[in-house]
Order: sequence, then C-alpha cells, then structure tokens
Amino acid sequence: MCYAIPGKVEQINEKTVIVDYFGEKRKAYNELAQISVGDYIYAQGGFVVTKVSATEAQSTLSVWKEIFFELQETDLKLSRLQLTDEDADKKLLGILDKASQSKELKEEELLYLLELKNKKGLELFFKTANFLRQKYHKNSCCVHGIIEISNCCRQGCLYCGISHHNKKLQRYRMSKDEILGAAGEAVEVYGFKSLVLQSGEDAGYSVEELADIIKEIKVKFPALIFISFGEIGIDGLEKLYQAGARGLLMRFETSNPGLYQKIHPGMNLENRLNHLRRAYDMGYLILTGSLIGLPGQSKKDLLNDIFLAKELHAEMFSFGPFIPHPHTPFSELKPGKIEDIIKVLALARIIDNTNAKILVTTALETLSREAAKDGLLAGANSLMLNVTPLEFRKFYSIYPNRAHQSEGISAQIESTVSLLRSLGRAPTDLEVA
Ligand code: 5AD
Repeated sequence: MCYAIPGKVEQINEKTVIVDYFGEKRKAYNELAQISVGDYIYAQGGFVVTKVSATEAQSTLSVWKEIFFELQETDLKLSRLQLTDEDADKKLLGILDKASQSKELKEEELLYLLELKNKKGLELFFKTANFLRQKYHKNSCCVHGIIEISNCCRQGCLYCGISHHNKKLQRYRMSKDEILGAAGEAVEVYGFKSLVLQSGEDAGYSVEELADIIKEIKVKFPALIFISFGEIGIDGLEKLYQAGARGLLMRFETSNPGLYQKIHPGMNLENRLNHLRRAYDMGYLILTGSLIGLPGQSKKDLLNDIFLAKELHAEMFSFGPFIPHPHTPFSELKPGKIEDIIKVLALARIIDNTNAKILVTTALETLSREAAKDGLLAGANSLMLNVTPLEFRKFYSIYPNRAHQSEGISAQIESTVSLLRSLGRAPTDLEVA
C-alpha cells in the first residue's frame, strides 16, 4: 500500500528538483546528495524523501496510471462551481464570486461567511472553497501517519485529557525500540512517507534521546519527520532539526491572548508563537492552527486564528473542534459545532488559496463519521492516520472516544483509500512547478 506516487526527476537546479507525475510537473527540495535526472523518487511536504528503483517505481506507476486520470476527472466534476443561483442571497453571491476569482475579501465579508446559517448559502460557500482547492492544488491529498509516543504531560491545559488534571489516566512512554518498531511498520509495511511523532509535554525523553530516535528513523526508514512534543525550547528545536526533523506540528490553540492565558495556566501565547516563528526560520515546515468551540471564543477570534496561521507560514492548517473530556475542568462544556469547523476550513481555503494544505482532523471525524468527506469537499486536502500501536493508542486520551481509536492501520487505510477514490483524490502532495 502506498501513500505517495513515485515521480521521475526531470531537472535538478541546485537543491530544487522538478519531478514529473504523469506529465504534471511538481517541485521538491532535495537533501539527498545522490540524485540524478531520470531517477525515481518519493517526495512529501516539498521534500524528496527517498529514491526508489526504476523497477519498483514503474510497477507502482503502472497501477496508478490506470486510475490517475480517472481520479482527476472525478475531482474536477465534483469541484465545478456555479454561482448563478437565483434564490441565493445577492450579497453572498457577490462575496463568493469575488472569492472564486481569488480576490481578497474584506473582514466584514469574511465574517459574513462565518456567520452564514442557511443551508443553501453554506453549500455555495463550501463549494467555492472546494473549487479553489481544486484550482490551486488539483486532486492531491496528503496523508501523514501519527505515532503518539507518550501521554505524559506536565502542562495543565484545561481542555486536554492528557494534562496533569487527569489523575485517572494510565500513563505510558514508548521505548526507543517500540517507537522504531512503530515507525518501521508505518514506513515499510504500510508505505507512509511522512510521520508525525507526538507526545505530551515533558514526556520523559531528553532532547538528546529524541534526536537519537529521529536520527535512527531517518537512517532506517526514509520518511519526512514532523515533531509535536510541545514547547521544547528553541535549542531543542534546533537539535531536532539537525537530527533530521523537518516539520513542526504545534497548534497555537487560539489567537486570542486573553483566552489563551485562561485555558493554559502558566503558559503564554507569545512563547508558543516564538517557537513557531523560530522553527519556520530554521527551515521547519509549520503545521499549526487552533481549537474551535472554546468557551468565550468569538467568530472574530476564529477569523484571527486563520490569519495567524497564515502569518506563521503554515504549510498545513490544523483546525479542529474542542471536545470535552470527562476528567478535565472543561468536562461540562459543549463540543465545537461541526458546521463551525467546516466553515473555518472553507474560509481558510478562501483566505489562503494557494499555499496551505488543510487538514481534516480526527477530532472532527469523532464528531461525525461523514465529516472527513464534508471537510474534503469544503477546501481541505489532508488527512492524518493514527499509526500508534493499539496497546498505547487508547491511553492517548486527549478527548474521549476518538475516531479510529481501536482501528488497525490496514482498516484505516482501506477506508481512507476508498474515501479518496470516491472523491477523485490522489496521494501526491507537491507544489505545482
Ligand atoms: N478536544 C479537542 N482537541 C484537543 N486537544 C487537546 N485536548 C483536546 C480536546 N479536549 C488538541 C490540542 C493539541 C492537540 C495535540 O490535541 O489542540 O494541540
């Protein structure tokens, strides 16, 4: 099973390579010294991950070739846009028409979209986002795997089920061998080309131990590695970059500093943003975003969240619902609304047409099994599958009843591939050259 289509290197300009996928040209950054024109490679997140033999590439490509153009056609059909609905409100049509031409919307217009309530209007809003996704990103959809290596955490975030508030939770910390085993399985057995390693903060590993693990994964199992260990300090970020990590997944959770302070005792937004900014400067791909449905959060806050993610140069936006966990101070609150999440995904696509990948989160899928499809049809183009060994996965209880909590990797892959095929999406994720 394979999550990326191999591409053929057509040109090399210093560190940038142009790769051909069935006639489409994409570009990627190459850190592997030994690449020549004519080689086949796998790339993820804009980075060449590994070289593959011509025989292996051609056999994979022959399988893909049959369906690649079919998928593109399905996607094109599903993303057609007609903004001529007689019954729809004229103001909305005007805004969406402007958006569909990639013209910048005013704040008042963006808020109008976030406040939309009627079904027909929402449908047009989501379709416009899907149209823009197709226009700029074609049918590519990137699929990362996530390994939750430890649920130990010293922080007391009021919403989070693995924070120190939860005294009932059985804590775990995977050993180096267990992490390497899970990474190896994801890459070698299931064909993942990018992995996120995530844990609570201060999960019981030193930066040196984490660096060691990343180095060993990079040597044994070629993949793009994202880290998500919370605020490990600027020095920590630097050391893990040197070890081979190339992405940082760290949500800022909310762009509203007052709200941030309230829900994160002892932490502050500036420190978090500093990590994100410095990581970008170091060369990390940034995956960031916020929680939707926090107490006291306004629509304007949500709009600012999207702007902040863009300002932080997010390569991928991750916006998902807050879901109350019974063993946290927020146990009695209501979860974020599905419709609000889809609105934010769609608005993010309208605000950042060309750059960002937009993730459908597991939290959204937890609220509704249909939501992955709805999100992908409203501007989103990324998914993350959980490849944490099942024995640990149930203890990574950031919120209860997580989707795919007890689903093996093959089952997740099967349903993902079938969803992507039904929508005409293919797992290529490089920028169009
Ligand atoms: N509901 C939804 N998402 C949560 N997270 C933590 N707790 C919850 C919750 N109760 C998210 C945070 C964090 C990510 C790892 O998990 O946004 O960044």
